[in-house]
Amino acid sequence: MMARKTYGIALIGAGVIAPTHAEAIASLPNARLVAVCDVVPSKADALAARFGAEPCYDYRELLMRKDIDVFDIVVWSGRHAEIGIDAARHGKHVLITKPIDVTLEAIDALIETCEANGVKLGAIHQFRSYPSYIAAREAVRSGALGKMVLANTFVPWFRSQEYYDGDEWRGTWRWDGGGALMNQGIHYVDLLQWTMGGVKEVCAYVAIARHHQRIEVEDVAVAAVRFNDDSLGCIEASTAIYKGLPARLELHGERGNIFLQADRIVHWDVEGLSQPEDAGEVSTSGEADPRAALLKPAVAAHADQIADLLAAVEEGRQPKLDGRQARKAVEIVLAIYRSAREGRSVSLPLR
Ligand SMILES: NC(=O)c1ccc[n+]([C@@H]2O[C@H](COP(=O)([O-])OP(=O)(O)OC[C@H]3O[C@@H](n4cnc5c(N)ncnc54)[C@H](O)[C@@H]3O)[C@@H](O)[C@H]2O)c1
Repeated sequence: MMARKTYGIALIGAGVIAPTHAEAIASLPNARLVAVCDVVPSKADALAARFGAEPCYDYRELLMRKDIDVFDIVVWSGRHAEIGIDAARHGKHVLITKPIDVTLEAIDALIETCEANGVKLGAIHQFRSYPSYIAAREAVRSGALGKMVLANTFVPWFRSQEYYDGDEWRGTWRWDGGGALMNQGIHYVDLLQWTMGGVKEVCAYVAIARHHQRIEVEDVAVAAVRFNDDSLGCIEASTAIYKGLPARLELHGERGNIFLQADRIVHWDVEGLSQPEDAGEVSTSGEADPRAALLKPAVAAHADQIADLLAAVEEGRQPKLDGRQARKAVEIVLAIYRSAREGRSVSLPLR
């Protein structure tokens, strides 16, 4: 068998989520973490040393490197597209964590630049790789659940004021793009829209609960939603819930109900379709690497999505979660903000 290419990856950003990406990359047989870049040198140094990569403090120094094929971008949300565009212009494939960026203008420019330069653009919404969410979605998309009646998500999380004070970008419109919805709830906005086949209208309220005194953005959001199939639902997200609780997804169709909590199916009652045996473990797609079995689900789910981007490059196809897919959740969040601001329901696509 011909030796497969090993893809060199540069990780841009060495903050909270970066080690999960580094571990995921290390688990893939056809990927190598070449460099770790952060504008804070001590962060780049520490993560690079841990994974045997080179530290770097200015990503522009990596743009001309022939041993780097992919830029994996995990910096402040409002800087994702800017760095992705620079990478694409230098022929690098681009992988970006959620949210892909925080404005549609930036996302569209990113998609266009990647297409114009013939590079792949993939995004990370790791919950799409969890068997529980895949099984629930399949029950809806296959019609097993029947005509959908109601589909809700509730993300009742907690973040302290210290969390928002800890990094200058958190809780700002410019760099975080929003609060409980754009940063945290977006995981479940994406799952809900992916499961239901898209949203066409929202009507929303957002607020800052008394708990957080120094943030610009919302820490509680409530939206009524009309999906593309005309069924209804709710999106609720908060970072001000006492102690924080696990997120939930509730799917009600004419032939059944499915509830998920965190990444587990907690209720499955579907006519003629029993609950899948094990919906807990995530395995990387098609890779026979035994180490994958030992990875934490979050790392394995990231590895699955990174592996898909590399497979997309090899096979000359789009990644499963490409720029247009990742744009959808951001558009819904922005529609919710607009609805709350203007005090009216807002239709998608946004103009
Ligand atoms: N998929 C997930 O579950 C998940 C979880 C957490 C965070 N995230 C996303 O990852 C991104 C980062 O979040 P975080 O919690 O790791 O934040 P963080 O603040 O801990 O880390 C971001 C890092 O980026 C660095 N940085 C900023 N601008 C840079 C630049 N121009 N070049 C190089 N480095 C730069 C900062 O110095 C910081 O160390 C956000 O977009 C967030 O939404 C995703």
